[in-house]
Amino acid sequence: MKMSCESTWEFPAENDGWYGAHNSIRAELMKLELALTTIMERDGNSLDDWRLECVKEYIAGHKEHVNGHHANEEEKFLPWLSTKFTVEDHVHSEHENLLEKVKAIEAVVDALKVGDGVDELLALWKDYRELMEPHLTEEEQEIVPLMRKHFTRKEAGEKIASILKEASKTELGSFFHHLKNKKTTLEFMAQEEIPWFVWHLEFKGMRTHYRKRMESKIQQLLQGEKATKSLVSKADLGLAINAGNFAWEVPRKPVK
Ligand SMILES: [Fe+2]
Ligand SMILES: [Fe+2]
Repeated sequence: MKMSCESTWEFPAENDGWYGAHNSIRAELMKLELALTTIMERDGNSLDDWRLECVKEYIAGHKEHVNGHHANEEEKFLPWLSTKFTVEDHVHSEHENLLEKVKAIEAVVDALKVGDGVDELLALWKDYRELMEPHLTEEEQEIVPLMRKHFTRKEAGEKIASILKEASKTELGSFFHHLKNKKTTLEFMAQEEIPWFVWHLEFKGMRTHYRKRMESKIQQLLQGEKATKSLVSKADLGLAINAGNFAWEVPRKPVK
């Protein structure tokens, strides 16, 4: 009988990049819900032109992010895991349902005009979030332990690295932005045996791209004011970064 590969994983499951990727999705779900609720409850539920642009651009970026995530799982990662254990059919069907929800959201967003309210969009977004969050949790709690049992750390690391090479700047930028700080970023890079200079060569630029394209939109919607400069620093993005008080996060565990 084959031994479990679990002993080859020298870090806690919660520190896996899969959790980090899911944290970044959960953060976007929560932050846009808070921003839309703010438009409804504080701003008279009427979109002016810059708010409309922020909402449209954020949803376009989120769509690129989650579709990239699920396409990687569906086309590359889950078929590979399925060579050693069974991935339940409903995980696949949930990916299809989530894609349909995003399409429905996109259709509503495309039709939005200046002066419109966000009631319908907010209701659809909450519905989508309710479907997405248990899906992410199930992958974390059911599939990650099986991955660690059936594949060594090295095998999985090589597979993930090959997948990440093709991920978009927005998807990876969200991942690094939501790792939150230098300490956790350094820890993650050491865990994945990625040299620190890669941060400066690649990842920092992705995070800046994400902050400009995505987090700055949440910041503007929450502050209720169109920005007159590019919002990139943590100080510029405080409202967005702290929105929801990190309730979206499954925190990393201390490494022994
Ligand atoms: Fe998934
Ligand atoms: Fe996932």
